[in-house]
Amino acid sequence: MGRRIGPLLVLCASLLAATASPPAAASPRTAPATATGAGTPTATGTRTGADEAATARSPRPLDRVIPAPASVRERGRPYAITPRTVIRVHGGPDHHRHGQRRGARKDVRQVADHLAELLRPATGYRLPVTTRAGRDGIQLRLGGHRRLGPEGYRLDVTARAVRLTAREPAGLFHGIQTLRQLLPAAVEAPDKQPGPWRITGGTITDTPRYAYRGAMLDVSRHFFPVPAVKRYIDQLALYKINTLHLHLSDDQGWRIAIDSWPRLAGYGGGTEVGGGPGGHYTKADYREIVRYAAARHLTVVPEIDMPGHTNAALASYAELNCDGVAPPRYTGTEVGFSSLCVPLERTYDFVDDVLRELAALTPGPYLHIGGDEAHSTSHKDYVTFMRRVQPLVAKYGKKAIGWHQITAAPARGTVAQYWGYDRTGPQERAQVAEAARRGTKLVLSPADRAYLDMKYDKDTPLGLSWAGYVPTRRAYDWDPGRYLEGVPERAVLGVEAPLWSETIATSDQLEYLAFPRLPGVAEVGWSPAATHDWDGYRERLAQQAPRWELMGVNYHRSPQVPWPR
Ligand code: ACM
Repeated sequence: MGRRIGPLLVLCASLLAATASPPAAASPRTAPATATGAGTPTATGTRTGADEAATARSPRPLDRVIPAPASVRERGRPYAITPRTVIRVHGGPDHHRHGQRRGARKDVRQVADHLAELLRPATGYRLPVTTRAGRDGIQLRLGGHRRLGPEGYRLDVTARAVRLTAREPAGLFHGIQTLRQLLPAAVEAPDKQPGPWRITGGTITDTPRYAYRGAMLDVSRHFFPVPAVKRYIDQLALYKINTLHLHLSDDQGWRIAIDSWPRLAGYGGGTEVGGGPGGHYTKADYREIVRYAAARHLTVVPEIDMPGHTNAALASYAELNCDGVAPPRYTGTEVGFSSLCVPLERTYDFVDDVLRELAALTPGPYLHIGGDEAHSTSHKDYVTFMRRVQPLVAKYGKKAIGWHQITAAPARGTVAQYWGYDRTGPQERAQVAEAARRGTKLVLSPADRAYLDMKYDKDTPLGLSWAGYVPTRRAYDWDPGRYLEGVPERAVLGVEAPLWSETIATSDQLEYLAFPRLPGVAEVGWSPAATHDWDGYRERLAQQAPRWELMGVNYHRSPQVPWPR
């Protein structure tokens, strides 16, 4: 099994490297020489600008990537991208059916164009994308071993060529994120930089540990317009996140246009926490987000939170309230006071219409129906509501996801998103574990690990702290396969890092909470458990900072990470 032996190979490479140069820990910013001497050893101990410049130009060891690749073997001489480099795309293997093959070709071409667009500004090279065969250049092709699965890839680097192979375009896309991180950080610059643009020789074979690797953005408490969402999508793609969960409705704002209930967005979308103007996505906006995400191999999971967290809907339509009276709109941050009216038939007309329109806009397999903090809904009503609503999701061809309280009434196929933390009671955990043993799949978002809106520590300015502080190490240092007692590993579909927006309203603020914790959750979701190692991870994380600076990402300089100067 490639994934099992992979970490051993990484270990061997590091041991050999350690004999060839001082251990990386002696100087976090100095890449160790590679096993074959392909890397350029640099002086350690002194941290001069010249050293840093030299280090920045030497090819990076193949394992200096986030998320850590499953298997790495360094060998041979590096490849250099030059003004003559071309990007070659090959179609799928011949046994693919004709139509499939043509679609796949287009997708491969899209990945190749994406790579060219990433590399052109900083290299200043033309990097033409061509279907002409040849043995040199950067080559993208579909094929390779079945074990690569739908998202895995193999990257072979020799002095002559870089060959990237995957079963599916998504694997090629993840492979180019690896390639990108193996190049000097300067590749992220918006304008021409001096090279050389070298990549260490060898092979990476890489597949994800979990199929679901998500990030959630709460666009309800504060509205984030389309360009801000696209910006975050680009940041997520760099770390092989494949799911964007959008929390589209809550007490403070309804953010998606629904034609059959126009006041939801038109009136219910016109507020946010603190009383700002709010906003909403038109259907064209939402489709554009879905398209942009899909081009980066992320699937959008839209959430309409029900039956609680519904004040914006209840304020928009008096007829949805048990007493027929619409409450005022809400701009505070309390939770748990609102509920759809479970005994009212009109409630299910509303839910049916919303889910139908949302399903029609959403190519991905999931609709998220919330289900958390329904403190104003009786348990009996909650179960009644969820038993009626989950079949509506199925009626429109989708699978339901709900926050883990949905394990009180899970339908077959419903996914539960666990958001408990170290103080979550044993009964609640047991209910989740019991559902998991009966076949409910889990997405893990433990609030004291994966909630990006928790403060890092008592002094960091943004965020909440009801689940405690989540410093950078805590977001990384956990194992989803063993996190919940009594939950078999096969029940874990993956992980997700939610970002609630009570305290944030801009991309700068969003990034301050997401970076550097998001890459930790991404790695926990992608990399084999055997690669898990905080000391190695924090070195790799530190090396992302020059990249973020060039990308304009506003990150928190966590004292736990040995950042470059
Ligand atoms: C949640 O944080 N209420 C899911």
